[in-house]
Amino acid sequence: MQKLAILTGGGDCPGLNAVIRGVTRKALLAGYEVIGFRNGWAGVIKGDWIPLDRSRVAGILHLGGTILGSSRTNPTEEQLTDIQNNLQKLGVTALIAIGGDDTLSVASRLHKRGVPVIGCPKTIDNDIAGTDQTFGFDTAVNIATEAIDRLHTTAEAHSRVLVVEIMGRQAGWITLYAGIAGGADVVLLPEFPMTLTDICKIIKGRQASGKNFSIVAVAEGFKLEGEDVTTQTKELDAFGHVRLGGIAERLCKLIEKETGIESRSVVLGHVQRGGTPTAYDRYLGTRYGVKAVELAQAGQFGQMVSLKGTDVVGVPIDSLVKEVVDKKTGKPKLRLGNRSVSADLYEIAKIFFG
Ligand code: F6P
Repeated sequence: MQKLAILTGGGDCPGLNAVIRGVTRKALLAGYEVIGFRNGWAGVIKGDWIPLDRSRVAGILHLGGTILGSSRTNPTEEQLTDIQNNLQKLGVTALIAIGGDDTLSVASRLHKRGVPVIGCPKTIDNDIAGTDQTFGFDTAVNIATEAIDRLHTTAEAHSRVLVVEIMGRQAGWITLYAGIAGGADVVLLPEFPMTLTDICKIIKGRQASGKNFSIVAVAEGFKLEGEDVTTQTKELDAFGHVRLGGIAERLCKLIEKETGIESRSVVLGHVQRGGTPTAYDRYLGTRYGVKAVELAQAGQFGQMVSLKGTDVVGVPIDSLVKEVVDKKTGKPKLRLGNRSVSADLYEIAKIFFG
C-alpha cells in the first residue's frame, strides 16, 4: 500500500482543516494509507506523526487552526537529510506540504533532493506567486471588513479618526479588499508608500466637507514615504522575517498632531487568522486537497496546487522560486516568489478616498 503524508507549516490559517480532510478523504478513496506529521517540518525531523483515517478527519471542516499543529521550523541542510531518511523509513511515497512561501520554499529544496513532494498554498496574506488566491485569505478579509463596519459606529459617534492595522506582511491584499468592502476613507498599502501630509489632506478634506470622522485602513507593512517598516522587535524569525506591528499607533499619534482631530488605533492581529473559516475557504481548501492527491496519483511531484480563474491546476514549484539574499546569513538562498497588489487595483481603492 502507498503511504501519503501531510504537514501544515507556518502561521495557522482558516481552511487548513478543510485541506487535511480533503487530502485524507480523497487519498483513502485512492487506496493510500494516510499519516499527518505534527507541527510542520519539526514533526518530519523528529518522526512525530499520527495516523489519519476517516474518523480522525470527521467534524473538522468548520474548525479554524489545524488538527496537526504548526511551527515556523526552517530545516538546516542536515535536517533535510533527516527528513529524507525519516520519510524513507516510514515508507512515505508522497508528501503534501501545506504552507506559505516559507514552508513551500522548504518543499522546493526537498524536491531538488528527489523527495516526492507536492505543495498547497496557504496564507491569509494571499501573497504567494503562481496562484490567483490562497485559502485563508477570504476569511481574513471578512473579519477585517466586519471590524471596519463596527469601527464606523464609534468613529462617527465620537467624531474621531480610527486607524485600523491589518495583517499581510509586505503585501496589501487583505487591507485592499477589506478597505474597499468596508468603505475605509484612506487605504494604506505596503506597495504604495504615502506622505503624512497627503494622508492628513484627505482627512482634513473630509472634515471640511462636513464629515466628522474618518476610518484609515493600514496594512502592517505600510511605510510612510522615505521611512522603513514599523516593527515590534528587531529580531528575525527562522525564515528571516521581522515581526511587523505598530504602524497604526504611530500614524494615529501623527494624524492627531497634524489634524487636531482625536485619533485612536486598533490592531486586529491574530483575530484575523482565528475562528470559523468562510464557506469559500472551506471550498477552496477542499479543492486544493483533492487536486494535491490527484497530482500524487499521477506522479507529478514538485508541483504546487493553484487556482487559475475557476480551475485548480498544478504549477511547477521550481518555476516560482527565485534567488534572494538571506537576511540572517547574508548568503543567497532560493525562495518562493511573492505576489503584490498592482497599481491598477490600488487606483480602484483611491476612487473612494475622502
Ligand atoms: O503570514 C501570516 C501572518 O499572519 C502575517 O500576516 C503576519 O505578519 C504574521 O503571520 C504574524 O506571524 P506570527 O503569528 O508568527 O506572529
